[in-house]
Parts: sequence; C-alpha cells; structure tokens
Amino acid sequence: MAFTQDELKQQVAKAAVEYVKSGIIGVGTGSTANFFIEELAKVKHKIDGAVASSEATAQRLRGHGIEVFDLNSVDDLEIYVDGADEITEHMHMLKGGGGALTREKIVAAVAKKFICICDATKYVPVLGKFPLPVEVLPMAKSHVARELVKLGGQPQLRDFTTDNGNLILDVHGLTITDPVAMEAKINQIVGVVTNGLFAARPANVLLLATADGVKTYQ
Ligand code: 5RP
Repeated sequence: MAFTQDELKQQVAKAAVEYVKSGIIGVGTGSTANFFIEELAKVKHKIDGAVASSEATAQRLRGHGIEVFDLNSVDDLEIYVDGADEITEHMHMLKGGGGALTREKIVAAVAKKFICICDATKYVPVLGKFPLPVEVLPMAKSHVARELVKLGGQPQLRDFTTDNGNLILDVHGLTITDPVAMEAKINQIVGVVTNGLFAARPANVLLLATADGVKTYQ
C-alpha cells in the first residue's frame, strides 16, 4: 500500500515519540517537526517542557499546552528531534528549508542526541541538490554572495527574514562531497551567521519513513 508523504511524516513522528522519556526536549521546525509536535502533545505529561528552534515551533508547542523554555535556562537536553531537507548514510544533513537553521544548530549543539525524522525522499547519496541555505547579516549579503560564487555556487536571496532578523541566501548548484569541510569554509566567510550543513555535528539517530515502514539507523 502506498502512503502519502504526510502519512510517512506522521509515522516517523510517532516513532520519534518513543524516544521521549522525561525532562526538557529540543524540538525542530518544519512540516515533519509539526507532526512530531502533534504526537508529543499526546505524551506531554511525561515531560517538563521543550526548547523550540523557531518562533513558529514555540507558538505551536504553547498551543498544545507544552511549556517552552529559553535555551539559556537549560544545562543540557537529552534529545533534539528535527527533520532535514537532505541526509546521507553518514548522518550529515542539509537543513534550513524553513529558514530556522541557526536556532536549529544551536539547540542541536546542546542536545546529547539528535534524532532526525525524514521520509525516504530526503535520503540522498550526496548533499547539495536541495539549495543550501546560508543565513547572513543584511549588510553582508552581497559580499557573502560573491564569496559563495567563488566556491562554485549560485546564491539566490530568499524573500524572507529569519527569527534573528537576518537574510537567507539559498545556494544552488553545489555538489557537496565533503560536508564537514564545506560547512567550516562557508562559516568562515565574514557576515555569515551559519549555513545549513549539519556535518560537524551529525544526527545520532535517523528515523526514515519508507513504504516498508520506519527504518532506524544509528
Ligand atoms: C527548517 C528545517 C526543516 O527541518 C527542513 O526544512 C525539513 O522540513 P520539512 O519537514 O517541512 O520537509 O531545516 O529550517
């Protein structure tokens, strides 16, 4: 039986809730993360609350009666659950389609375990088919764009302002064979806040929704 993409997202969200035990958990941003929030709401009695990776997620969590904590008031998080735009067998991810990459990376940095929830369309051999989001300070956008062209990309300014008041350049045309090196190189461009490669800190668990059920990689 063929599942719709939304059904696959719901299945993977249900699987992720199995990892929710107690305390405060990190919650990502996007349509797959939204399915996770729906499932989390059903077990909210188990947790003290959540740290959100975006204003949109914070609003959604509060809407379900889940307390939202400031990351600075939390020493560590057992788990961070989020989707991705692309992920490889090495657990390297490309994220930021929803523009929340910087806060996602910060919350993920605090979490002991990154649980990535995806449908099978996101599982790729090489990152870069999905345009790589780069968050930039507004005054640096042209400089950063020129530097990204030197790296072989074609940056396009997104009509969007991040929760941090910055801009996003979506970089097309990159074939990212060394995500760890590329993540570091782009982050070194002056004016870049961060980029959507999550390779220095990859996922620890991948829950992948496929036509044959949810597969777990770790
Ligand atoms: C948002 C993200 C999302 O995790 C990514 O875009 C995947 O979103 P979706 O679950 O809607 O496909 O990085 O910044």
